[in-house]
Amino acid sequence: MTVLSPRPDLWTLDPGVLHLNHGSYGAVPRRPQELLAELRAETEANPMRWFRSVAGRLAASRLELAAYLQTDPAGFALVPNASAGVTAALVTLDTAGAIPAGSRIVLTNHAYGAVLYAAERFARINQAEVVIVDVPLEADDATVVAAIATAVDDRTAALIVDQISSATAMVFPIRQLAELCGAHDVPLIVDGAHAPALIDAPAEDGADFWTGNFHKWPASPRATAGLVVAEKWRTATLPLIVSWSERDERLPERFDMQGTYDYAPWIAAPESLRVLAELDWSRRRPQLSAMIDDGAKLVAKALGTGVAEVARPAATMRLVELPFDGVPSPEAGEAFKTKVSEELKAEITLTAFDSRVFVRLSAHAYNSPHDYELLAARLPTVL
Ligand SMILES: Cc1ncc(COP(=O)(O)O)c(C=O)c1O
Repeated sequence: MTVLSPRPDLWTLDPGVLHLNHGSYGAVPRRPQELLAELRAETEANPMRWFRSVAGRLAASRLELAAYLQTDPAGFALVPNASAGVTAALVTLDTAGAIPAGSRIVLTNHAYGAVLYAAERFARINQAEVVIVDVPLEADDATVVAAIATAVDDRTAALIVDQISSATAMVFPIRQLAELCGAHDVPLIVDGAHAPALIDAPAEDGADFWTGNFHKWPASPRATAGLVVAEKWRTATLPLIVSWSERDERLPERFDMQGTYDYAPWIAAPESLRVLAELDWSRRRPQLSAMIDDGAKLVAKALGTGVAEVARPAATMRLVELPFDGVPSPEAGEAFKTKVSEELKAEITLTAFDSRVFVRLSAHAYNSPHDYELLAARLPTVL
């Protein structure tokens, strides 16, 4: 097997820093950055001409992005981020009267904080409640489905589940959960924020609503995400911003026009897919998994801890336990990350689960095994 070389040359990342947290905000390679800059220059050369061209360019971009996800372009709309995708799904259920008083919105203890806030808002508005199902880190797919099944019944207004969780970098069995929801006629909202480029055809497992970010693992310009809507909800699903395309009967076109807005990232996003192709992504991804496995073990060894035993870990993220005495406050957690950034020249993130604290490490095509060796040498010095 040929080992593909790291390609930091395709990015513009500061070489003096260890970039080990692609999972939070991504990192845009040089070529999509340049295209974005060209598109913005074109806008400012003639704003009127640019806005006349936007509809056609968005349509072309959507087709490429939907093809990348292997999903039906008629059910694929552009949204600025996964948070907007989840919110649009909840608004749709709310407007359809599908969150009645006394009903329950079900999530797991792996859910992303902002997504939990969204569920809480729509529960509050409707005098419904939020139910959190505990799913252990080491749960296999059958255990995950059995745990969630205990909360899916005729009171359930919706199940919101991560495809890949943020705090725990765990892959959830979406197809089985879609079957469970289908059997109880419960709408399933899949938070696939991390899924594009880490899972093939991520939106095809039968969710009612699926959302995923292009600005994470596909490394597209930020504020680029997709919302995939099952056929039965397409007419009812409306964009969060009411604008001129409000009355368009077609779902994707209805989401295209969001008033005066910066459409350049959505138009530049397919360029990042071409970078993934150049990186030979489908061959590279398993190699990145092997690299992050080794790298995480090295860092854990240096800290005298272990790598979290997640039953189905995400392809390119691992959790290394920190020898902390309890979960730090948000302020203390931020202070730790800032110290690591400033003193160790390393970018990492912290996550907490079940009173345990972890460094969540990422691997992308710009990383090399040496990055993890350097982190392993440096991190113990700040503990
Ligand atoms: C699981 C999960 N859901 C939702 C989000 C929110 O994504 P965005 O900030 O693009 O809205 C994130 C971001 O990291 C995430 O990890």
